[in-house]
Amino acid sequence: MNASSETHTPVLEVRGLGVRLRDIAAVDDIDLTLYAGEALALVGESGCGKSLSSLAIMGLLPHVASLSEGTSILLQGQQLAGLDEDSYNRLRGNRMSMIFQEPFTSLNPLMPVGAQITEVLTVHGVPEAEARARALDMLNKVGIPDPAVRFNQFPFELSGGICQRVMIALALVGNPTLLIADEPTTALDVTIQAQILDLMRDLMRERDTALLLITHDMGVVAETADRVAVMYAGRIVELADARTLFTSPRHPYTRLLLESIPGISTPPKTVLRTIAGTVPDIRDWAEGCRFHPRCPFASDDCRKAAPPLEDLPLDGRSHKVACRHVNKTELL
Ligand SMILES: Nc1ncnc2c1ncn2[C@@H]1O[C@H](COP(=O)(O)OP(=O)(O)O)[C@@H](O)[C@H]1O
Ligand SMILES: [Mg+2]
Repeated sequence: MNASSETHTPVLEVRGLGVRLRDIAAVDDIDLTLYAGEALALVGESGCGKSLSSLAIMGLLPHVASLSEGTSILLQGQQLAGLDEDSYNRLRGNRMSMIFQEPFTSLNPLMPVGAQITEVLTVHGVPEAEARARALDMLNKVGIPDPAVRFNQFPFELSGGICQRVMIALALVGNPTLLIADEPTTALDVTIQAQILDLMRDLMRERDTALLLITHDMGVVAETADRVAVMYAGRIVELADARTLFTSPRHPYTRLLLESIPGISTPPKTVLRTIAGTVPDIRDWAEGCRFHPRCPFASDDCRKAAPPLEDLPLDGRSHKVACRHVNKTELL
């Protein structure tokens, strides 16, 4: 992240983002700010609402879901909440793009991959010949061998790793200001995963792209993110720069996530092992602090009302935590 970037308009400024699945707040009042050239990781176990949050920003929510009233999503100062589909289409692929979790379901099976990448540019008015040249160049940049041959192939002719790179090419070819990557490497083996992360970092550095990286893999976060937002059951429970989050996590849930990274040296965690379980089904999300059923420190207050996400006192950097018992997490 550039030292001066905080003084500029953020690329993305989300305030009070809510997504409702019928009467349930699947995403509940989250705030996110993202600057040019910065990578913000949104982490949490499966079912926390990470994908719904990103789809909401992209204007791609499924029909069963709706944006809550009062949501504000500013892309370089432009309000996206409530934007009509045509206006959204002008932004997608162009100023904002997204790498989806599943390459095979998001690529068109009936179109050669080169044509799909070319189309991203031609729909935004780039002349055909130039678009084809840029698409080919992008296939090369994402490290696809024999790009001229791949250009004319269909997704089914390509391996999973190559398809994922095609997806990344598709997302990057329009030079987006904002890139959202939803579990971009989950389906890949570790070698390809490392290559893809390197590639995304290079492209960010080259183009000052802002990256919202969604993952449940804390190893990927450690390698890539400048800042980290930890999500649990539709809410952000901790937000800090990556170093602070890894060295002094304060929310019990963050401690639990960090436990899952092999090789990170942490003291024995007898208490933490009692924080068992998984994210409950959305219909069973608890009142009050939604983590309280899994939390060893839960008190009556926690069962009644959700703690706000607040800056920790006595902490030099910005470090926000939504927990009444932050001082006890050191016991974990
Ligand atoms: N299309 C949908 N219909 C019904 N429930 C959904 C839909 N999409 C997501 N959900 C539910 O919303 C919650 C959050 O989902 P999601 O955003 O996909 O989580 P994550 O990406 O963190 O794994 C989950 O409980 C999930 O089952
Ligand atoms: Mg998801």
